[in-house]
Amino acid sequence: MKTLLKLLAGLAALVVVLAGAGLVYLFTRYPAVPPAEDVRIAATPERLARGQYLVENVVGCVVCHADRDWSRFSAPVIAGTKGKGGQRFGFGAEPFVLYAKNITPGGVGEWTDGELVRAITTGVSRDGTPLFPLMPYPRYGKMSREDIEAIVVYLRTLPALSHDPVPARTLKFPLPLVVRTIPAAASHVPIPDPSDRVAYGRYLTNAAVCADCHTPMDAQGAPLPGKDFAGGTPFSPNGVGLVRSANLTPDAATGLGTWTEDQFLEKFRAYRADAPRTLEGAERLQNTEMPWTYYAGMRDDDLRAIYAYLRSLPPVVNRVEKFGR
Ligand code: HEC
Ligand code: HEC
Repeated sequence: MKTLLKLLAGLAALVVVLAGAGLVYLFTRYPAVPPAEDVRIAATPERLARGQYLVENVVGCVVCHADRDWSRFSAPVIAGTKGKGGQRFGFGAEPFVLYAKNITPGGVGEWTDGELVRAITTGVSRDGTPLFPLMPYPRYGKMSREDIEAIVVYLRTLPALSHDPVPARTLKFPLPLVVRTIPAAASHVPIPDPSDRVAYGRYLTNAAVCADCHTPMDAQGAPLPGKDFAGGTPFSPNGVGLVRSANLTPDAATGLGTWTEDQFLEKFRAYRADAPRTLEGAERLQNTEMPWTYYAGMRDDDLRAIYAYLRSLPPVVNRVEKFGR
């Protein structure tokens, strides 16, 4: 009996020691990314123009880092709030509550260019905090280095908004541990030649973060196998209502199979007007998470490339009821 007790006590102590060692390992070795580079990115007019286009119409920064008008269709960005922090993500169903940070010079003005590049492409904040991957750094880490530099140059020119403190995030266990293991070194690729429409479209689709909403994921956030771009992910825009992302694969019955290139472009162009319509009454329970007004500013050729890439995907049968229960 005594020996058994001793053995059990010994085992318990071993478990505590191993768990402790595991935590020490996790906190000293992770996030495992290279230190911020000592670089200065020259603000050339080309970078500024490219960065403005990417930030304002393609890669989504100001979809999340801004205030949005949820009383209007697709919640356009409120003028004068580009780069502002404070937008909330996670309203109960998710195991997290996150707040976008101020990325205007009022928020990250003191950061070096290298620190910004590291946060955007590897997911480690200036002070070493690992960022939650709702901030799509795993995608930005697969963009061209030149495009990331263009983004940094443009961010520096945003009007500085005061650095109101943003509430701290909450992550439910085990996410505080898991989040440390997600940041990874960037693996930049060159921008494909736009004449290769499918390759260029794949690049843009990654940069525009389409799959984060259109590929269904399991509870751990891993994409469901064989379901790339098949839609059905549920959203509760600004914490209200229910909308599911559409099937973007070329399946004729449940996806975009019957859509012509023109129809695809028209769907975006329709939202190029500055102020999308105000939703009335119950319509407000049916707003969309799809940032139509934001992507509407994408160039026609870029939208065509995205269409070409989506056409190249294997069709997946997945009927999605966008709105409703
Ligand atoms: C889908 C929403 C979303 C998009 C798109 C997005 N971000 Fe973020 N970003 C966040 C959230 C949320 C956080 C905070 C994450 C956390 O607390 O773990 C964040 C954090 C950051 C940080 C760290 C700031 C700090 O003080 O630690 C930087 C820098 C940043 N984002 C820049 C960008 C840039 C540049 C882009 C576009 C290339 C971008 N973000 C796109 C949601 C987003
Ligand atoms: C923040 C989440 C989100 C992102 C990012 C997003 N979508 Fe969507 N998308 C949705 C939701 C939700 C719907 C369904 C509601 C609607 O039609 O507005 C949708 C609908 C669509 C539709 C309409 C399809 C149909 O059957 O009517 C198209 C086309 C589309 N998205 C393409 C894209 C492309 C291309 C990208 C990337 C450039 C993208 N989406 C990025 C959430 C998103």
